[in-house]
Amino acid sequence: MEDISTPNPLLQGLELTREPEPFAIVIFGVTGDLTRKKLIPALFSLFVKEHISRFRIIGFARRPWGKEGFREQAADMLDKKEFQNVSSDIKNTFLSRLEYIQSPFEEQDGYARIDEYTKGFHTRIYYLSTPPNAYEPIIEGLGNHGLQAQEHCSTRIIVEKPFGRDLASARKLNMTLSKYFQEEQIYRIDHYLGKETVQNLMVLRFGNGIFEPIWNNRYIDHVQITVSEKIGVGTRGNYYEQAGALRDMVQNHVFQLLSLTAMEPPNDLRPDSIRNEKVKVLSSLRPITYREVGDCTVRGQYAEGVIDGQEVPGYREEKGVSEDSRTETFVALKLFLDTWRWAGVPFFLRSGKRLARRTSEIAVYFKEPPHHIFSSQTPTLQKNHLIIRIQPDEGMTMVFNAKIPGYTTVMRPVKMDFFYGRTFGETPPEAYERLLLDAMIGDSTLYTRRDEIESSWGFITRILKGWEEDDSPIPQYRAGGAGPEETRELLGDEKRRWSKL
Ligand SMILES: NC(=O)c1ccc[n+]([C@@H]2O[C@H](COP(=O)([O-])OP(=O)(O)OC[C@H]3O[C@@H](n4cnc5c(N)ncnc54)[C@H](OP(=O)(O)O)[C@@H]3O)[C@@H](O)[C@H]2O)c1
Repeated sequence: MEDISTPNPLLQGLELTREPEPFAIVIFGVTGDLTRKKLIPALFSLFVKEHISRFRIIGFARRPWGKEGFREQAADMLDKKEFQNVSSDIKNTFLSRLEYIQSPFEEQDGYARIDEYTKGFHTRIYYLSTPPNAYEPIIEGLGNHGLQAQEHCSTRIIVEKPFGRDLASARKLNMTLSKYFQEEQIYRIDHYLGKETVQNLMVLRFGNGIFEPIWNNRYIDHVQITVSEKIGVGTRGNYYEQAGALRDMVQNHVFQLLSLTAMEPPNDLRPDSIRNEKVKVLSSLRPITYREVGDCTVRGQYAEGVIDGQEVPGYREEKGVSEDSRTETFVALKLFLDTWRWAGVPFFLRSGKRLARRTSEIAVYFKEPPHHIFSSQTPTLQKNHLIIRIQPDEGMTMVFNAKIPGYTTVMRPVKMDFFYGRTFGETPPEAYERLLLDAMIGDSTLYTRRDEIESSWGFITRILKGWEEDDSPIPQYRAGGAGPEETRELLGDEKRRWSKL
């Protein structure tokens, strides 16, 4: 982790600061895991870096912490390596801005106290960091107390994932939100969009002249998007049983990567200009009919295996998981976008747990040259490809063929690498820092719009329904491997290969 108390000389003099108006943020579910791991550290980091100065943080949950208890807990949340050089004065100033409301979400007394704590702040943000079944009671609670629209101040609501579990529930949640909040006030979070490399996708495509001319079906053979994890479900078995890889990863994170990879250039950088283009990608997805689900999707469940030299149990042996569970821990999809640019280009998406490598990457595979004049010495050419790594080792790799030195023209693929960390000399900010700062400023570009979320759920829900009709056994894959064997066949062409996991 970077030492955040030392400014990076490379970035000095650049316009990198955007300070929001004074704001109060109410975190519902403040005693939970997300607040501890991400939200309080992100808010503190923004304070240390002087992006925010005038604010109050109000925690809201059931535990009897009280103001002092919350401050003590928060001090503990800041006990991290990257904050070790921050002075205790700065820590104490931050902690002095914390207040706590102890109340169940279903009771009204807690909401009545929100106004008292948020009075005088130009911007008020409500952050729903709670189990999804609490979203609607909280929205109603805020609405019933008129907290959604107060005079002379901007009010915003941030909603965590999961946003629904199918199209119907996502629509219902949107309806409840829209009863009290305008669309401009609603910030649906997908923390993937806060990642620097994801934002760099637009810069790569539209800030350079060399990629866009070849970014289409004339030159691109296919695209692979992979979000893989080494970890299993851990203690979240109960939750995961109800979710599965398609809901947990593909509907949100993987589809965000798909939209940014495939979108048309926006006219400008206004939030809606960008989001209009992203929605167009999702609405151009060729629907997978129930009959096609078997041909266009592969699902699997991890069986026992070895990861980093350690034996790990199979999914069905994990705590909270049913012995005959049919929840997928791996999914691969083959998709087409019915657009002028992408006609005929398959997009292969895959995501899973307990795989050989933790990675999030987009690999764009280009077509081979029209005529292979070196075939006598190198019979098969590897397709050139550009790998955009979201994590870890944020950066890019171009893979192309080069002549092996010597008296023949035998070729092999070589790599040209760009690593963010090495070039800019610092770790990019945590996704939550960027996203919180944007919400404070009122920039919703990196948040998901209503039509975007409903388009993606519409597509995913068809697949879920198709799977419900299919009672064939769920393929098992060895933990620490590359997923089920069947994934290979999805590529459809002998010359295509999945990027190595
Ligand atoms: N944890 C992560 O890394 C992570 C990552 C991405 C997204 N998310 C999403 O973020 C949200 C929060 O996750 P989490 O892991 O922080 O959950 P969590 O650890 O289970 O925390 C839930 C919080 O909600 C409060 N709560 C629950 N029911 C309540 C009620 N009826 N009245 C008042 N307070 C209530 C709990 O307070 P008390 O315990 O004090 O009652 C606790 O503060 C979820 O939607 C999750 O999907 C989490």
